[in-house]
Amino acid sequence: MKRNPIFLILTFYSLFLLGELKSSLATQPKNENQVYIVYMGGVDSTNGSLRKDHDHVLNMVLRRNEKALVHNYKYGFSGFAARLSKNEANSIAQQPGVVSVFLDPILKLHTTRSWDFLNSQTYVEIDNTLSSSTPSSSDICIPTGWNGTCMTSKDFNSSNCNRKIIGARYYPNLDGGDDNDVAGTPRDMHGHGTHTASTAAGNVVSGASYFGLAAGTAKGGSPGSRLSIYKVCNFGCSGSAILAAFDDAISDGVDILSVSLGGSPDPQPDLKTDVIAIGAFHAVERGIVVICSAGNSGPEQSTVVNDAPWILTVAATTIDRDFQSNVVLGNNKVVKGQAINFSPLSKSPNYPLITGESAKKKTADLTEARQCSPSSLDKKKVKGKIVICDAINDIYPTFSKIETVQKAGGLGLVHISDQDGAVVNNYAKFPATVVRPKDNSILIQYINSTSNPMGTILPTVTIIKYKPAPMVAIFSSRGPSSLSKNILKPDIAAPGVNIVAAGTSSPYSMKTGTSMSCPHVSGLAGSIKSRNPTWSASAIRSAIMTSATQINNMKGPIATDLGLIATPYDYGAGGITTTEPLQPGLVYETSTIDYLNFLCYIGYNTTTIKVISKTVPDSFNCPKDSTRDHISNINYPSIAISNFGGKGSVNVSRIVTNVGEEEEIVYSAVVNAPSGVKVQLIPEKLQFTKRSKKQSYQVIFSSNLTSLKEDLFGFITWRSGKYSVRSPFVLTV
Ligand SMILES: *[C@@H]1O[C@H](CO)[C@@H](O)[C@H](O)[C@H]1NC(C)=O
Ligand SMILES: *[C@@H]1O[C@H](CO)[C@@H](O)[C@H](O)[C@H]1NC(C)=O
Ligand SMILES: *[C@@H]1O[C@H](CO)[C@@H](O)[C@H](O)[C@H]1NC(C)=O
Ligand SMILES: *[C@@H]1O[C@H](CO)[C@@H](O)[C@H](O)[C@H]1NC(C)=O
Ligand SMILES: *[C@@H]1O[C@H](CO)[C@@H](O)[C@H](O)[C@H]1NC(C)=O
Ligand SMILES: *[C@@H]1O[C@H](CO)[C@@H](O)[C@H](O)[C@H]1NC(C)=O
Ligand SMILES: *[C@@H]1O[C@H](CO)[C@@H](O)[C@H](O)[C@H]1NC(C)=O
Repeated sequence: MKRNPIFLILTFYSLFLLGELKSSLATQPKNENQVYIVYMGGVDSTNGSLRKDHDHVLNMVLRRNEKALVHNYKYGFSGFAARLSKNEANSIAQQPGVVSVFLDPILKLHTTRSWDFLNSQTYVEIDNTLSSSTPSSSDICIPTGWNGTCMTSKDFNSSNCNRKIIGARYYPNLDGGDDNDVAGTPRDMHGHGTHTASTAAGNVVSGASYFGLAAGTAKGGSPGSRLSIYKVCNFGCSGSAILAAFDDAISDGVDILSVSLGGSPDPQPDLKTDVIAIGAFHAVERGIVVICSAGNSGPEQSTVVNDAPWILTVAATTIDRDFQSNVVLGNNKVVKGQAINFSPLSKSPNYPLITGESAKKKTADLTEARQCSPSSLDKKKVKGKIVICDAINDIYPTFSKIETVQKAGGLGLVHISDQDGAVVNNYAKFPATVVRPKDNSILIQYINSTSNPMGTILPTVTIIKYKPAPMVAIFSSRGPSSLSKNILKPDIAAPGVNIVAAGTSSPYSMKTGTSMSCPHVSGLAGSIKSRNPTWSASAIRSAIMTSATQINNMKGPIATDLGLIATPYDYGAGGITTTEPLQPGLVYETSTIDYLNFLCYIGYNTTTIKVISKTVPDSFNCPKDSTRDHISNINYPSIAISNFGGKGSVNVSRIVTNVGEEEEIVYSAVVNAPSGVKVQLIPEKLQFTKRSKKQSYQVIFSSNLTSLKEDLFGFITWRSGKYSVRSPFVLTV
């Protein structure tokens, strides 16, 4: 029977300023016990009965302090979070069955430029509810076998769950959290969880728009799917709560997890202390697809997080939509600006313009004034004018300058940028816009040509079918993975810039980040799962990756926001497509054993691995010499080779499984190789029959290049009629 999948959405209350978060941590008394996570690997049974060693260690803790326990993990994996002294933590780490003990980390949500969005929401009424923004639909029902629950609170009762939202849990602040606590409710006050949930599985709603912009029909990636919400973020997202949500979600029976949050890439936690990697491992072991945001720390290399090989890691791209807020000059010429604002200014150029330089305060530095840095502007000169601020060689974003201009009595702000870019920010009611290098000459000439320059800033209009699109967003975190250069990360890219979805403080809200791209892929995974309910998590990942596109809507290669041709470090296999993944032809299945081999390579021994995985066969042993070549040979839908060049050839193998309708089918290989590299496939044709659904092949990479100057990229594609199964590869120096 066809069963629509159930999602896990990790959702949030609010993360205000980081400063606030830091200060609240800093005020914790120093010698009070801190919360530690004690991770003990897998479970013997999924009914909640504790493993003997788990029971033993937990009792050790409770004997000393019966109130120490914060969370007990017992359905999906073993362990607990508890308040411990440093000495206690150290001694627990030595106990049999304990894999790792570490301080409870604070993770953050993966929306970016969120201050802009918070600003924009300060003037709208709070009147919506989680359930009305994703209304229930009559063609879906609560599935049999669903073990989830609908937790209630003062502002959230059982009728807030329905046939769409079939589960809701929350994880209050560690200090108890009563009903009056903002954390003590499954209700989403911040909007991040509502937005991501409706992107993944919202019903079709026509007439959606963000205050009139980006109007159209809103619909989630898998409208027939049900949602289960796990609210793990309050003031920051504690690792112990995230693990509790994974543990509950595994026991509730979700099919897909959509996780739009993560840690910092600098320094990235190792796998023993990475809560998302730990929770995801146990979920994937049970056949659940885990999809995570790659992070918003781009465009610097090696910033991707959530990069364990069992996770589907998602980067962000733009869509074919632009938001223009143009500047009209006194001579009636129009300068293109990019911004989202609801400028209340008149459409006639009746407002005086002044440059930051001309509005310099006596005591201020000339460069600072040109850039409209804090307290560099003279109020008398700025009052009632639109200020032109320079962003050349300046890292401060537009919104930080709005404050300076607004404080000085300015009416509006035109920011002259020295970077091309496609990420458009939201300045709400303040008339602010960004002029890119290719558009700024008319403006600069006009200012120079008159002693009394005038102008206005028009409110934003939506431009659709914008070209080129998609582009990889500047903030999207990049590969290579810092875990291993032998697994390519991120895996895939999806829309994550100015996404309109359900809101909490208004019916729709617009948000940006890999947080937004992640649920697009979760929705797609939901559609694949409902069409192919028996497919493994890795088959679903493979289908999404091998059908991705590297071509934009101008039939050129997908570029980055900065105009460079994108590589798999930017977008993995490419941008998602929506119909091809439903019928991928062939899939690469990655097994739990593959993942355990990865753990061997990372430094776990066979004994520890048998604690982590209770499904591993007794015969499993780490390879005697676990080398990076073993990792390149994991049956992953992409290929990554490290230390390539000047040493002859490298040989990797893969196995593909025919999942197409045709049992008798032949695929031929097409290779796009970087210059100077020879890529040989053995065999060059794959013949599938009724009896042989699986075929293996080898890829031999060789090169004459004595030394590789930079990492090289290419693609291997297996083709047959309507099917095209494409894998990216990377060869690193
Ligand atoms: C849970 O399962 C284990 C092993 O399958 C069994 O020994 C135990 O009695 C069960 N416990 C409960 C509470 O059902
Ligand atoms: C739940 O709350 C709503 C108002 O928010 C109310 O109309 C409804 O009757 C309540 N349902 C239950 C079961 O208490
Ligand atoms: C729900 O719980 C029951 C009893 O513990 C278990 O047999 C079943 O597999 C669970 N369902 C899911 C979907 O995990
Ligand atoms: C504007 O005027 C300044 C100073 O007079 C000059 O340096 C600059 O080149 C002029 N810019 C343009 C675009 O005409
Ligand atoms: C495996 O690793 C653990 C943790 O590092 C260590 O305590 C244990 O002695 C090791 N076991 C073997 C058989 O090497
Ligand atoms: C590639 O490696 C595999 C396993 O190490 C080996 O069996 C095979 O012969 C190699 N192929 C070539 C063409 O070297
Ligand atoms: C290596 O060099 C030889 C001779 O110049 C050439 O024929 C061959 O194609 C080169 N191989 C690669 C992989 O570039």
